[in-house]
Amino acid sequence: MDGLIGLVNRIQRACTVLGDNGGENALGSLWDALPSVVVVGGQSSGKSSVLESVVGKDFLPRGSGIVTRRPLVLQLQKTEDGTREWAEFLHAPRKRFEDFALVRKEISDETDRVGGRKGISKIPIHLTVYSPNVVNLTLVDLPGLTKVAVEGQSDSIVADIEDMVRSYVEKPNSIILAVSPANQDIATSDAIKIAREVDPNGERTFGVATKLDLMDKGTNALDVLEGRTYRLQLGWVGVVNRSQQDINKNTDMLAARRREREYFQTSQDYGHLASRMGSEYLGKLLSKHLEQVIKARIPSILAMINKSIDDLENELNLLGRPIAVDSGAQLYTVLELCRAFDHVFKDHLDGGRPGGER
Ligand code: GDP
Ligand code: NA
Ligand code: MG
Repeated sequence: MDGLIGLVNRIQRACTVLGDNGGENALGSLWDALPSVVVVGGQSSGKSSVLESVVGKDFLPRGSGIVTRRPLVLQLQKTEDGTREWAEFLHAPRKRFEDFALVRKEISDETDRVGGRKGISKIPIHLTVYSPNVVNLTLVDLPGLTKVAVEGQSDSIVADIEDMVRSYVEKPNSIILAVSPANQDIATSDAIKIAREVDPNGERTFGVATKLDLMDKGTNALDVLEGRTYRLQLGWVGVVNRSQQDINKNTDMLAARRREREYFQTSQDYGHLASRMGSEYLGKLLSKHLEQVIKARIPSILAMINKSIDDLENELNLLGRPIAVDSGAQLYTVLELCRAFDHVFKDHLDGGRPGGER
């Protein structure tokens, strides 16, 4: 199944390249048909920290205030050989980032380039991380929901962020990662509010309770984690991310993960849940779920892909061959990917017999 998520990732990337220079019709709906995991929550609830922990690398800009001001579409691609890890941005193809501190700087610079120094923008930044240590997954980091604009920001920013977040989570193919800090009232968290609105039966929402370590002494989040406070069919996962002090001290990710594991294993409150808590578990859970969703949707994705193949062929015919312009070549790439996808999917429908009769 690794192959399937990998192919979905590649089609999503190819669709995006074409997104702003034609092909919107067929490819926009193809993108929407492919599932991805969208991270939502209030400002400073720990969204970026959760993402970094799932990836196991430091690479996101952070701090107080609205740091994430453009959607970040993050594709994790597991590599099979070697130990090298690198990142690539869609806006800077052919450039390999091996230093993740530079990835953070590039996200931040690219945010300013389009969003200005304070504003937000709907235009996503696309980043792919290649590593032997990641699970195959597409994640979208979004600006945090907030209640008030601060100085220098337009009055509409609060509503604009909410609209942007809603446009992602309302898509039926979005898997929602609702991030809520455990040291605040979870039942009324910004994440749960918007998730409840677009997914009232909690069928495609995972709850993530952050900051368990910051809860008042003598209290715990068992009611939340065991589903009594707000029931979600996909359940809740508790995490302990790095504190601001850890970040200032440059506590590295591996040490933080180890500490998180120890936290759960030795906890009086959560010890019995330890195997189902923490960021590492969350990453595996999400990848497994994404796989299941893709499997279940194979027939409808296949239909969409076949439609796209027709549309792409029409578009290519209109452009005329041989293809001279860049966008023609890119359309061609998507077409090839769709065909590859078609093969893989049909094989799965045939019970996994490679090249089986159909
Ligand atoms: P975002 O705005 O939702 O993306 O939140 P960030 O990930 O930037 O986190 C906001 C602040 O909360 C940072 O200072 C983090 O270090 C801190 N933080 C996030 N999660 C935890 C946690 O589980 N425990 C502790 N102690 N601090 C956390
Ligand atoms: Na923040
Ligand atoms: Mg953030």
